[in-house]
Amino acid sequence: MTEPLIEACTFVIFGATGSLARNKLLPALCRLEAVGRLPAQLAVVGFGRRAWGDTEWRAHVADLLRDRIGKDLEEAILVRFVQRLRFFQGDLGTAGDYRKLSQFLASERELSPNLIFYMAIRPAQFGEVGAYLADVGLNKKEGRWVRLVVEKPFGYDLESSQILDMRLHRHFDEDQIYRIDHYLGKGTVQNVLVFRFANLMMEPLWNRNYIDHVQITHVETRGIERRADYFEEAGALRDMIQSHLLQLLTMVAMEPPASLDAESLRDEKVKVLKSIRPIPQSAVHAQAFRAQYARGVLDGEKVLGYLEEEGVAASSTTETYAALRLYIDNWRWRGVPFYIRTGKRMGSNLSTIAIRLRHPPQLLFRDTPIERLRPNWIILGIQPDECLRIELQAKVPGLEMLTRTISLDAGYRHAHEPALDAYETLLLDVVLGDRSLFLRYDEVRFAWRVVDPILKVWAMERDFINTYPAGSMGPTDANRLFEREDQIWRDTLSLGGEK
Ligand code: BG6
Repeated sequence: MTEPLIEACTFVIFGATGSLARNKLLPALCRLEAVGRLPAQLAVVGFGRRAWGDTEWRAHVADLLRDRIGKDLEEAILVRFVQRLRFFQGDLGTAGDYRKLSQFLASERELSPNLIFYMAIRPAQFGEVGAYLADVGLNKKEGRWVRLVVEKPFGYDLESSQILDMRLHRHFDEDQIYRIDHYLGKGTVQNVLVFRFANLMMEPLWNRNYIDHVQITHVETRGIERRADYFEEAGALRDMIQSHLLQLLTMVAMEPPASLDAESLRDEKVKVLKSIRPIPQSAVHAQAFRAQYARGVLDGEKVLGYLEEEGVAASSTTETYAALRLYIDNWRWRGVPFYIRTGKRMGSNLSTIAIRLRHPPQLLFRDTPIERLRPNWIILGIQPDECLRIELQAKVPGLEMLTRTISLDAGYRHAHEPALDAYETLLLDVVLGDRSLFLRYDEVRFAWRVVDPILKVWAMERDFINTYPAGSMGPTDANRLFEREDQIWRDTLSLGGEK
């Protein structure tokens, strides 16, 4: 297969000195440099308020990349990468600065006319910056392409996301807008499609006849770090579930797309989101659970409770843990519960999709010491381990007829294969113009539709929230979401946790 054509372009980062640029964008671009995937004429323009020129910006980025990438970073690569960097001093809220930006981009001969604008800024500023760019014609495609990359959250709820979308569409066509959900750049997430659709043995099992329930988990030991401003407004439901975890659900549940092109893939994902049974406000308590971390112990160290974190209101009821039970009302999934949960300051870092198959009939083993056959699980580990595991029952060696769970494990990456950061994949796709791993607005809209009733009820109930000790695996009360007693959270990849 021939490599796709990579065109020259100018990659402008709004919020060049912010945490997203520092932690994700610049390291990912530099790693793409290391593997020779950046076109020769790609320049990275940092747009920021600091009184810097190219030299200061280059020195700043070189330091941070040495720090982030460490010993794997060859000096020659770093030198090549920083040569691509340009700095433009500007203020996001000043109209005149966009005119100057436009002049700067046009006047520098080595800057390609193809433009990527990356909004590594607060979502509240997306609309305004988009409008300023359009005022000076930086949205126009004549003789070049222009792409606008926006990060989640896309809005605050269903209504605000529609307003944001209308604002962006006033100046940019849909094919210019790249809505990033970095989970779609993770290797194992893309592997879900390959696992399901490139292996004949999976598809026949992948439905309500064989699957008892599905669990999608992302829990992390991190607290809110210094993001109280953002997190107080967002909460775990918006931060993780509306975006990343519902995207994982679409990958698990969708029908095979006609092809892997962007539209076919996204059509199927939208169908799943549309088929999720709406949760009426009266059912929110039965189908959703929220909690907040209290003080606790993590890795042997005492850690603060959420209410004690800097910037958090003393009476905040913002959830740091959220769990849902959803149903997809279509032929494949009718009646199969999908349990989704996320939590901060939990006892471990774990992102998994765990699929439990139904119990096999016991009859055959009726007259043996086997009391109960255990169900099979299929587990897709996203992080920290990228793996695929299938759990089966096997006979225990010996004279008795006893069974135990064994597992077929496949590491998805061999030791010599480098781990990619999701942003490397996604930034390369933006440069290539491949939108399949980016969200179409209707995906965002239908995902908001799923969580909106829950947000409304939680927003009204501001006088109480359950808590869980930091360092635990979350509140046990969340178990009430399960349909049956034999369903429990799968907290580890290892065996033995299941009933
Ligand atoms: C971000 C959320 O989108 O995803 C964070 O805002 C969360 O709160 C993070 O910690 C998790 O992403 P990852 O790639 O570290 O699993």
